Formats: sequence, structure tokens, C-alpha cells
Amino acid sequence: MTSNPYPLGLRLHGRRVVVVGGGAVATRRVPALLDAGADVLLVAPELTPALRARVDAGRLHWVSRRFVPEDLDGAWLVQVAVDDPIAAASVSAVAAERRVFCVRADDRTAATAWTPAVTRHGPVTVAVLGGGDPRRAMTVRDAVRDLLAVRLAPDGIAGPPDASTGTTGGMQAGRVALVGAGPGDPELITVKGWRLLTEADVVVADRLVPGLLLDELRPDVELVDASKIPYGPSRAQEEINQILVDRALAGAFVVRLKGGDPYVFGRGGEELLACAAAGVPVTVVPGVTSSIAAPAAAGIPVTHRGVAHEFTVVSGHLAPDAPASLVRWDALAGLHGTLVILMGLKNLAAITATLIAHGRSPATPAAVVQEATTGTQRVLRSTLGAVAAETLTADLRPPAVVVVGDVVNALGA
Ligand SMILES: C[S@@+](CC[C@H](N)C(=O)[O-])C[C@H]1O[C@@H](n2cnc3c(N)ncnc32)[C@H](O)[C@@H]1O
Repeated sequence: MTSNPYPLGLRLHGRRVVVVGGGAVATRRVPALLDAGADVLLVAPELTPALRARVDAGRLHWVSRRFVPEDLDGAWLVQVAVDDPIAAASVSAVAAERRVFCVRADDRTAATAWTPAVTRHGPVTVAVLGGGDPRRAMTVRDAVRDLLAVRLAPDGIAGPPDASTGTTGGMQAGRVALVGAGPGDPELITVKGWRLLTEADVVVADRLVPGLLLDELRPDVELVDASKIPYGPSRAQEEINQILVDRALAGAFVVRLKGGDPYVFGRGGEELLACAAAGVPVTVVPGVTSSIAAPAAAGIPVTHRGVAHEFTVVSGHLAPDAPASLVRWDALAGLHGTLVILMGLKNLAAITATLIAHGRSPATPAAVVQEATTGTQRVLRSTLGAVAAETLTADLRPPAVVVVGDVVNALGA
């Protein structure tokens, strides 16, 4: 006989949950239990490396042996994550005797509790049971997740879409999020960054943020173009700070969308300080930085075993002999590893000459990656001695990343 399950939200903080088994299923189940604050006891002769790492970190207790009935002493819930049906049934039997709910990975019909497919949005958790069909549950969960990504704010539930009058239900009001948009491909924004973007009332965007992300904004979102074109006219940073603060103090949820990572030559720190000084709360969402993604997109791992034990990211926006430069190019020339230069095209001839003058071989492989991860990406492979001239000949332009080091050819030139 089947009857509908009765849904509950278990509040497991500090409560003993026993997990029997240390394999792949347990590896998937344990993180959510720890996230709920459960006092997890893992019973298994062996563990996966991921579970072992959590044990080593002191996140849970492990007894290295097979299950014995006393393991359920004080337990509120048991999850059976073993393949062996006889062993699983014996845990079930002890659990039933002790009135402890028992989840069975091997046999849902033998379980007294089912784990739902879950999507979490801040404090909101949606759990879907598919009537015994996990695939159906996941399909429904995915559809709900997509819907909620647009409608739910992390701190609470937004109003219905037609009731939203500019402040996304007011739940995100008066806040700023500094969001890294990634290097160029719109799919390289983080899940969290994208979610906050869909909730914004105001988006203050740099020129280098992927245009397609902006294309997807709701029509009522105010888009402020904070373009800072290299070597061209730039909007004063103070003015951008002021826009962030003013809009937030007026009650808007402001997303400051920045190319790559907000804190890698992105002036995100200044914006955070300006908001903090005005009492505006700020969330920082890191992004995929072009300093790593651009080399990767060109088939260059910034470190490669046996080739480079370090990579250094440096701005080349000032010439090496500029009094205001904070970069020790002479010291960088003495390193063996990978050098990644951002904003370096204008000064590339001076930079490469300085590196060579201080000892880096002109034969060192070098590459330039322009507009990485976009449909117009261009890659030039060269050497430290020749890259500046070849960049000019090839008419490569910003935004571009220059990579110097043997890793340039590590995966084949
Ligand atoms: C002001 S910095 C900002 C860096 C950004 N915060 C990051 O983490 O990628 C701008 C520089 O980043 C590099 N850059 C950004 N996006 C790029 C891309 N798609 N391809 C190549 N270089 C890029 C270029 O060197 C550009 O001049």
C-alpha cells in the first residue's frame, strides 16, 4: 500500500544523525547534513577522500567499522548509504525498533523517510518529492529553481512580478553587491552573481562586462554605464561611488557589475569603502578573473606541473620607468614562473625590454590573448623578445592579457 509522504523540515542543529556507509552516496549526503548543523556520526570501515577530509577537519565523527545497533543511541535520523541489502536491512530493523527514521539509498520502498530534491535560495528551501521517482523530483526542482532565481531575494520572498515596483519587493533594498561578471563569456558569471543581477533595481556596469548579461535585465532596471575606456575619457571613480551610495540610500538594490573579479585591478575595494563610509551594506561576489581565464581560454595553464611553481599577476598600465609605478620589474625578471600582465599592451615594448635587461631570456615563450572567452578572441604566440613588435603587426588591441613563461607552450604551441 502506498500513501502520500508527510513533508517536514527537520531542524537538525546539534542533533545526532548517523550515516552508515562511506562511499559515493554518503559523500553526497553528508554536506547537507553538516550544513543543517547536524552532529554527524559516520559508520563505515572506509571513507572516500572527500569524507576523510571532513573528518580530518573535525566536522564529523567517524567510527571505522561496520554498523552495530548501539550506533543509533541518541540518534534522531539514520541514513543508510551502503550497497549491501542485508546490511542495509539490518540498520533499518534497528532503526524501526528504536523509532528512528531511516533513509535508504538502496531501496526507497524499505525506507521510512525519503530525501527530496532540494533547491536553496537564501533562507528559503524548496524540497520536492517525486512520488518515489527521483528523476521526476529533480525535473520539478530544476524548474522551480529557475523560477525562483528570478523571483526570490536572498533575504526573503519578493512580491509577485507584477507587484514589483522597482525595489524587487523591497527585500534587497538599500544594498550594494559588487559582482564579478567574469572575463567575457556571459556564462562565466557565478551562479550567485547571476542571481543577484536578476534581482537588481540598478545595475552599474563597466565596459568590459559581457553585453549579453545586460541584455537579460528586466526592462524596469536602471542601467548606469560606468565605462572606463583604457587611455580614453573615464568617469571619475568618485562619481561611481556616489551613484552606488545615492541609489542604495534611496532604497534600491544596486549591483555593481565589474569585468573579471571585482578586486583584481577593479577598484572594488574603493567602492566597498565608499559604501561602508555611507553605512550601505555591501556583498562581494568574486568573479572569474581574466588573469587566469584568458590564458586558460588560449590553452595556457598558468601553472603546469614541472614547469611553473608560481604565477604573478601584474598591471602594465604604467611604464616601468614611471615614477608612480609600484611594480618591481627588475625583481619579476628574476622569477622563473609565469608572469601575467594586464593592461600591458601600450607599454609592452618597454615592459619586455625591461624584463630582458634584468635577465629574463628573450627566448622565453610569450603570448597575447585578446578578448578572451568571447567570439572574437585572438591569440598570438611569440617570445619575450618579439612579442611587442608582433603585437603591433597583428594589430592586437585591449582588452588583452600578456602571458610570459614556459607554460605558454606547455600544452603544445
Ligand atoms: C581594469 S582591468 C580589470 C581586470 C578584471 N577585474 C579581471 O579580474 O579580469 C582590465 C584588464 O583586464 C584584462 N582583461 C579583461 N577582460 C579580458 C578579456 N576578455 N580578454 C583579455 N584580457 C582581458 C585586460 O588586460 C584589461 O586591460
